[in-house]
Amino acid sequence: ITDPLVLFMPSGKRGRFPVGTPVLDAARQLGVYVESVCGGRATCGRCQVEVQEGNFAKHKIVSSNDHISPKGPKEERYERVRGLPERRRLSCSAQILGDLVIDVPQDTVINAQTIRKDADTRVIARDTAIRMCYVEIEEPDMHNPSGDLDRLKIALMKDWGFKNLEFDFYLLPQVQGILRKGNWTATAAIHKDADSDIARVIALWPGLKNEAYGLACDIGSTTIAMHLVSLLSGRVAASSGTSNPQIRFGEDLMSRVSYVMMNPDGREGMTVAVREAISSLVDKVCAEGNVQRNDILDSVFVGNPIMHHLFLGIDPTELGGAPFALAVSGAVRIKASDIGLKLNQGARLYMLPCIAGHVGADAAAVTLSEGPHRQDEMMLIVDVGTNAEIVLGNRARVVAASSPTGPAFEGAEISGGQRAAPGAIERVRIDPETLEPKYRVIGSELWSDEPGFLDSVQATGVTGICGSGIIEIVAEMYLAGIISEDGVVDGSLSARSPRVVANGRTFSYVLKEGSASKEDGPKITITQTDVRAIQLAKAALYAGTKLLMEKQNTEHVDRIHFAGAFGSFIDPKYAMVLGLIPDCDLDKVSAVGNAAGAGARMALLNRGYRREIEETVSQIEKIETALEPKFQEHFVYAMALPNKVDPFPKLSA
Ligand code: FES
Repeated sequence: ITDPLVLFMPSGKRGRFPVGTPVLDAARQLGVYVESVCGGRATCGRCQVEVQEGNFAKHKIVSSNDHISPKGPKEERYERVRGLPERRRLSCSAQILGDLVIDVPQDTVINAQTIRKDADTRVIARDTAIRMCYVEIEEPDMHNPSGDLDRLKIALMKDWGFKNLEFDFYLLPQVQGILRKGNWTATAAIHKDADSDIARVIALWPGLKNEAYGLACDIGSTTIAMHLVSLLSGRVAASSGTSNPQIRFGEDLMSRVSYVMMNPDGREGMTVAVREAISSLVDKVCAEGNVQRNDILDSVFVGNPIMHHLFLGIDPTELGGAPFALAVSGAVRIKASDIGLKLNQGARLYMLPCIAGHVGADAAAVTLSEGPHRQDEMMLIVDVGTNAEIVLGNRARVVAASSPTGPAFEGAEISGGQRAAPGAIERVRIDPETLEPKYRVIGSELWSDEPGFLDSVQATGVTGICGSGIIEIVAEMYLAGIISEDGVVDGSLSARSPRVVANGRTFSYVLKEGSASKEDGPKITITQTDVRAIQLAKAALYAGTKLLMEKQNTEHVDRIHFAGAFGSFIDPKYAMVLGLIPDCDLDKVSAVGNAAGAGARMALLNRGYRREIEETVSQIEKIETALEPKFQEHFVYAMALPNKVDPFPKLSA
C-alpha cells in the first residue's frame, strides 16, 4: 500500500508520508515552513493549519477530516484555554491518517506572504533573523552539577538543532531567576544571520513568550517613517512618521554637512536630534500597536549616506567633497543599545549597505524592494529628493548614480513653491486657446473652476505650489506655447492674455491672482527664474540617467519606477513632456511609494534579503556624475524641453 499523499496549499508542495506522521514534520520535510515557538508542545498555537474539505479533484486527492488524527488531549487543552478557530488544527499534534489537502494560513507561515500596507501589493517572504524558541529545561540535580545556563543551552540545542549557541552577557545574571519563574520552561529569542553558524540568545522570558516585534525605519532628510511589524506573523502593527528635526540645522544635506564643519558640536547635536525623533516615533508606534518596547527585538534602518552617518554618530564631513569617502559602506550589524536606542536590552539593529558616497542605504533598500537585479527588463528607478538617486539595470548588471537636482522639485527655490501639504497646488491645466489656468490643491477633490471650490479649501486656503504642481505647470506652459523649447516665456503673448506679464526684462505667468480672503490666498506667479530652476533640476536628473544608460549600453529603458513621496504625486505624462525621464511606455512608468521603507521591511522580515542586497550592492557599479566628462554635454541638451537631441516617440504616440 502506498503512503498517504499530502498536499500543502497555497504552495502546492506535496509528498507521501507514513500514517502517523505529524503534519508539522511533513511540512518541514517538504520545505513548507510553518512557524513554531513551543517546538511542538501544543502550547504556542503558532503552527496552526487548516484541513481542507470538499472537491479538490484538480489535485486528484480526496480529503476529509477523517484523514487526520482526532484532536488529542493537548490540542483540546489548547482549544479550551485559548480557543482554536473552527477547522484549525495544531500541525505539531495532528497526524496524517490518509490523503490530505492542508491549507497553511498566511498568518502562521514563516515564509508567509505579507501584503504591504501601502498602495503596493507585492508580498514579502519571511525568514526572520530572530526566532522565538520555547524549551523545557532539566532541573538542577546534586548528582549533575552543571549550571542552569548550560542546561538551558543543551535544551535549546537539542530541541531546536542549534549548533554554536552563544548568550548575550547581560542575560547571565538573570538566567536563574527566569528559569525558576518559568518553572523550568523558558522562551529564548535567538538571533542568527543567514550565512552565520553562530546563533545567539539575545533575550529570555520565563515560560512561553508568544510575541516579538521589529522596526523598519527610513530616515529621510525631511521625513522619518517607521513601521512596527510582528516578527512572528509579518503583520504591520502600526506605522507612523515625523519630520526630521535636523531641518533646524540645515534644510538640505549639504547645509547639514557645512553645519557640522562649522560647529564643533554640530555632529553631536544632529545625532542627538535624529535619535530623539526616532525614540519618540517608537513611543508612537508602540502606543498605536499596543506593544511594549521590551517586545521589540530587531530593527532595520535605511537612509542616505549623510543620514546614515549622523544616525550612527559618524562625522559626515568626508561626504561633503570628493572623493566622498564613506566611513563604512557595508551593512552595519550592532545592538540597538549601542546607539542608545531603548528597545529590548538585547535587540539588534541592522543598516543596509550604502552604494556610494552619494547613493545610500535608502537607495539600496529601494533596489531591494524594486528588484532590478531579479528581472530581465531594463528598469530605471528614480528617487527624487534634493539629490536624485538613480539606479538602472537588470539581472545582468546594475549601475547607480546620484544627480544634483537641487531642491526645486521639492518646491524650494521656486517663487510660489512649498512642500507638498494641504493647500498646495498639485495639478494644473492651461487652456491652450485662452491661456486660462485651472488647478487643484492637496486636500480638495475639486478643480478651481468648479462650484464649491473655495469652500472645499476653507481649512487651509490655497497656499502655494508643490513639486508635482510645478512639474505640471511648466509642462502645461510648454504645451500651451507659453514657453519655448528653450524654456523662454514668450512675452509677445502679453498682448493676448493678461496672464503673461512683464517682470523686469523677462516675463512671468500668473497662475493665480492674490486676494485678501484666506481661502483664496496669495498671488502665485511662475517666473522665468522658476522655469529655469526646473530646467536645471530636470536636466541634472536626465543627464545622470543618460550616463547610466550609456554605461549599460542601452538606448531605452523598459520600465521606470518613481520612488518616494514626490514620485507618488507626479503624473508620468508630465514628467516625460518635460524630459525628466527618458522615453518609455507610459503604462510602464509607475510610482512605487515609499520603496525605501518597503525594502527596510523586507530586510526585517527576511534575513535572506539582507544577504541578497549585500551581494547586489557589492556588484553595483557606481558612477560619479561629477567626474564624468559627458555629464555636462548631456546636461546642456537636457536643458531643452523635452530634449535637444533625444527623441520621445512614445510621447507623441
Ligand atoms: Fe507550538 Fe504547535 S508548535 S503549538
